[in-house]
Amino acid sequence: MNKLQHLLKNNKDWSKRIEETKPDFFSNLAGQQNPEYVWIGCSDSRVSANTIVGLMPGEIFVHRNIANLVIHTDMNCLSVLQFAVEVLKVKHIIVCGHYGCGGVKAALEDGRNGLIDNWLRHIQDTAILYDELLAQIEDEDKKLDKLCELNVVEQVLNVGQTTIVRDAWTRGQNLSVHGWIYDLRDGIIRDLDICLENKSELKVLRKLFS
Ligand code: CO
Repeated sequence: MNKLQHLLKNNKDWSKRIEETKPDFFSNLAGQQNPEYVWIGCSDSRVSANTIVGLMPGEIFVHRNIANLVIHTDMNCLSVLQFAVEVLKVKHIIVCGHYGCGGVKAALEDGRNGLIDNWLRHIQDTAILYDELLAQIEDEDKKLDKLCELNVVEQVLNVGQTTIVRDAWTRGQNLSVHGWIYDLRDGIIRDLDICLENKSELKVLRKLFS
């Protein structure tokens, strides 16, 4: 039976390397976590949160799903946000999409892929919202890239509209929501410059992109 021995060996080697350079690393982390960031990203295997921002275990609280969506009835995502904001008291929520996202591409193509089409429907709603802007782009790859960016914008707005984040701002908690996009072609993250730090900014954000 293949027990994925190579992965377990990788893990032992990795743990040993860290213990050698930082002897108390694991025992300190086992006691508590104190991350400053939440990452909401795509499940895509190429967009690994800790790796691409160079953070160690314990430094970023991660939620990933297909096409980095924040849906108001998704108890999984909302529970991550609630725990991170109210218990861990993170300071930053990062929504990070990526160019060439297969989920966004499938939504744009409007084919039949099974259950997932219902999840991707949210991206199609975003495409309708920005119909005029997208219609001006003839090149299909550029159109996909733009929808990947707009999808991040909408998810940043969705995060800002959750009761969790709005209540945190009402309490005066220091919390900002960021929209980033990662480029698979060069490994670089671009800041979409749509940082939300209070309720009033929610209203102006969408106008910026319309
Ligand atoms: Co993706």
